[in-house]
Amino acid sequence: MIDKIKALLQEVENMKAANAEELEALRIKYLSKKGEISALMNDFRNVAADQKREVGKFLNELKEATQNKINELKEGFDNVQTGNDDIDLTRTSYPIELGTRHPLSIVKKEICDIFGRLGFSIAEGPEIEDDWHVFSSLNFAEDHPARDMQDTFFIQHNPDVLLRTHTSSVQTRVMETQEPPIRIICPGRVYRNEAISYRAHCFFHQVEALYVDKNVSFADLKQALLFFAKEMFGPETKIRLRPSYFPFTEPSAEMDISCNLCGGKGCAFCKHTGWVEILGCGMVDPNVLENCGIDSKVYTGYALGMGIERITNLKYQVKDLRMFSENDVRFLKQFESAN
Ligand code: DAH
Repeated sequence: MIDKIKALLQEVENMKAANAEELEALRIKYLSKKGEISALMNDFRNVAADQKREVGKFLNELKEATQNKINELKEGFDNVQTGNDDIDLTRTSYPIELGTRHPLSIVKKEICDIFGRLGFSIAEGPEIEDDWHVFSSLNFAEDHPARDMQDTFFIQHNPDVLLRTHTSSVQTRVMETQEPPIRIICPGRVYRNEAISYRAHCFFHQVEALYVDKNVSFADLKQALLFFAKEMFGPETKIRLRPSYFPFTEPSAEMDISCNLCGGKGCAFCKHTGWVEILGCGMVDPNVLENCGIDSKVYTGYALGMGIERITNLKYQVKDLRMFSENDVRFLKQFESAN
């Protein structure tokens, strides 16, 4: 009897089933009431008493091995089965249609990469902010028009919870928690209460850069700006800085680049001036450093901020800002090669 059991064990080990029906047939063959193992169980009665122990052990082993093998084979089918339910076999598998990166993502990455080469690392902050990080810490006067409902989205009429209007808020978040030297680039979405048109939207994207260390000067800022402009718009690009005003920088400036469409000769795009404005910048106001717990007698810094849509428009001449958020595949597809 032991030989028979051993032979069956061997058989069971090599058992194969191509589908669920075949497997069921095997189960019936071995494990059903009239199956081979049941027959052996019946014969067990006739085994001599002194052999019962050994034979019983083999028999149990065989039964268990058969059940395990059948379960194992069944599991294989079950997996295929559920897989099949999820697969639409009528779909063609090739070519897989690859999506394209959004033009704003392409340009954002390019800006971050350029500053990355200057040693800046990426920092991010929340889009739902408080007054301190968006305005007060950045030296905005109590009655500054940006704090008005006309310009800023407040959340649930709570004047302390708002959608950030600029990524300068990330400056404060980082300066509050890190010691200089600080060299960060902060990309992100910002919100303003604007009527939507081809040239304004209630949300858009900015990149902010901040460098705080000992002996940071306006010359360092200008050098970084020139490097950025040439990397972004080509080596022929010139820059010019015009005095300006921002509450959080002193002195402040706006930067123009030579018009990348006409090369500075003058065209409709640059309103025949040869220059187009691309960003705001300046030396971090000492009040801002102090607000964030940084000693303004020891450290100085520069900051700059730009709109990603603006840079993208300059690179790709997108005439209508709304295109960026409409998700029209015909528009987005055109940026395939820029990926
Ligand atoms: N936060 C400004 C804006 O939203 C942009 C800006 C200007 C950022 C000058 C700066 C800066 O860091 O120095 O218009």
